[in-house]
Amino acid sequence: MTIGSNGHTGGFRLGLLVSHLRDEEKMILAAAQERCIPVDVLQDRRLALDLTSPNPPAVDVVLDRCIAHTRGGYALRAFERWGIPTINSSRAAAICDDKVEMTAALAAAGVPTLKTSVAFSVPGALDVAEQLGYPVVLKPVGGSWGRLLAKANSRASLQTILEQKQQLGTHHHSVFYLQEYIDKPGRDIRVLVVGDEVIAASYRSAGHWITNVARGATSTRCEITPDIAEIAVDAVRAVGATLAGVDLVETPDGLKVIEVNGGVEFKGLRTTTELSLPDVILDHAISAAVLSRWDVGEAISV
Ligand SMILES: Nc1ncnc2c1ncn2[C@@H]1O[C@H](COP(=O)(O)OP(=O)(O)O)[C@@H](O)[C@H]1O
Ligand SMILES: [Mg+2]
Repeated sequence: MTIGSNGHTGGFRLGLLVSHLRDEEKMILAAAQERCIPVDVLQDRRLALDLTSPNPPAVDVVLDRCIAHTRGGYALRAFERWGIPTINSSRAAAICDDKVEMTAALAAAGVPTLKTSVAFSVPGALDVAEQLGYPVVLKPVGGSWGRLLAKANSRASLQTILEQKQQLGTHHHSVFYLQEYIDKPGRDIRVLVVGDEVIAASYRSAGHWITNVARGATSTRCEITPDIAEIAVDAVRAVGATLAGVDLVETPDGLKVIEVNGGVEFKGLRTTTELSLPDVILDHAISAAVLSRWDVGEAISV
């Protein structure tokens, strides 16, 4: 028997930080049960983090599967302070949760990504769009599942969208993230990276220009070429993550990164690979726990 650094006895124990259980979390829980890995489900809404007399959960690593990013961010930072490794780190999660931060991190690391600017006023955004050219894509900085993305084909339609966002939205909606539009071949590529390795890749195809599985795109297997592997691993490294899904787009100038997703969904991707993605994720969580204990000279039994 091994004594864990968080005071619990016994072998590896996983903390699964969730907002609610989506299909992916249910799959991770089922895989853990199959392998007799104990899991504490940490529901973000129910957490009460004692900041003055820390009350860390008795787990060896926390896997962040939150969709409520504000709560998730606070929880990750507390866990890290209390010495619990988290996947991903709070810093990487914060970068992935904010498209402005993420694009800036990709650009700073020299990872090919789409031409993007952020503006804070309607005239400023219209100026940016003139430089990018039409059509132009406008995205919420904290969005996912392809929600609230807009493609404006002209200055007039962009102005209408911007003014509506400014009038009807909260101040977050007046952070205008504008991007060149890529006329892609009816698909993008979702790549799962764990550590420094590409685990699986799939094409996501749809009749619509937005090809999220959550919006009905279909997933088919994509061969992991050296180009795909290189750009995906570089992208994940650039944001400081160790487990992420990278969205790539095929452009006339080669592959470019659309975004990096920290709490990656893999419903579509899993149908295109023989690998058990929940098991790959569990293995990664175990390694992270072992490595962090190793750093402080402790053993862990798995
Ligand atoms: N600049 C773009 N040009 C063409 N298609 C895009 C562009 N940006 C996003 N898309 C399409 O929209 C989808 C969702 O965009 P993304 O930035 O990944 O937002 P989300 O976080 O909502 O998934 C992408 O997977 C891609 O199919
Ligand atoms: Mg996406």
